[in-house]
Amino acid sequence: MTSDSPTTEDTAGTSTSDAQAFYGQWARLYDALARYTPGIARLRTRAATALCLEPGDTVVEMGCGTGANLPYLRERVGPEGTVIGIDYTRGMLDVADELVGTYDNVHLIHGDATAPPLSAVGAGTPDSHGVDAVLATFVVGMLDDPATGIEDWCDLLTAGGHLVLVNAARSERWYGAPLNALFRAVVVLSTPPTTKLRYDTDPHGTLDRRIATGHDALRERANETTEATFAGGIVRLTGGRIRR
Ligand SMILES: C[S@@+](CC[C@H](N)C(=O)[O-])C[C@H]1O[C@@H](n2cnc3c(N)ncnc32)[C@H](O)[C@@H]1O
Repeated sequence: MTSDSPTTEDTAGTSTSDAQAFYGQWARLYDALARYTPGIARLRTRAATALCLEPGDTVVEMGCGTGANLPYLRERVGPEGTVIGIDYTRGMLDVADELVGTYDNVHLIHGDATAPPLSAVGAGTPDSHGVDAVLATFVVGMLDDPATGIEDWCDLLTAGGHLVLVNAARSERWYGAPLNALFRAVVVLSTPPTTKLRYDTDPHGTLDRRIATGHDALRERANETTEATFAGGIVRLTGGRIRR
């Protein structure tokens, strides 16, 4: 079931609206890529494992898109746990609802992940079970202020909770040049055409900076970290147990 947050439209700026229109239009194609790209199941399994979830836990996915991670999360928290997916693009959540809508412990919230409206499903309030883990895959590059976003996500967690980020940025490996050229094309094509980023002479430079800033912010707050790379160094995972 999908809940609406009244904050979504209130806080939406121009680039946010562009991103919502773009992802809404391409949700089904995105879903196919998100679930069936070779190697993606391994990546999502690894991300879910890095969250160190236990049965009964509450886990929040920021920018859950079409829900490709949600079955992995639900499998780990079990029927007594809670999975919450937040996304500001209605079309993406509609596809996610088809995937997980039959589970009564998986909640989808239409809202802004930088001000996560968890109370819409009764979570994150003083009377509720706290948030044990937060996951964000391929989202940090879309945040204007990734450091503040990551700080806020860390603050949501209960003591000992985990935050895991997965993102794609340019490979730093010696053989990375052809991969990076391909990655640049993917960045341009997967960026809303009405945004400045698409025509930026260095679009993946902006992404690289946001992702480095976000992952560094997580490392700053974590006392145990997990790092992994995939796809020739383009995709990187950072996970950590957050200090309070
Ligand atoms: C590249 S998709 C990733 C989807 C999913 N996490 C995955 O791994 O397949 C990025 C998603 O983040 C959402 N998103 C980006 N910024 C957001 C924000 N501030 N609040 C909520 N959703 C956001 C977009 O609507 C989109 O569905």
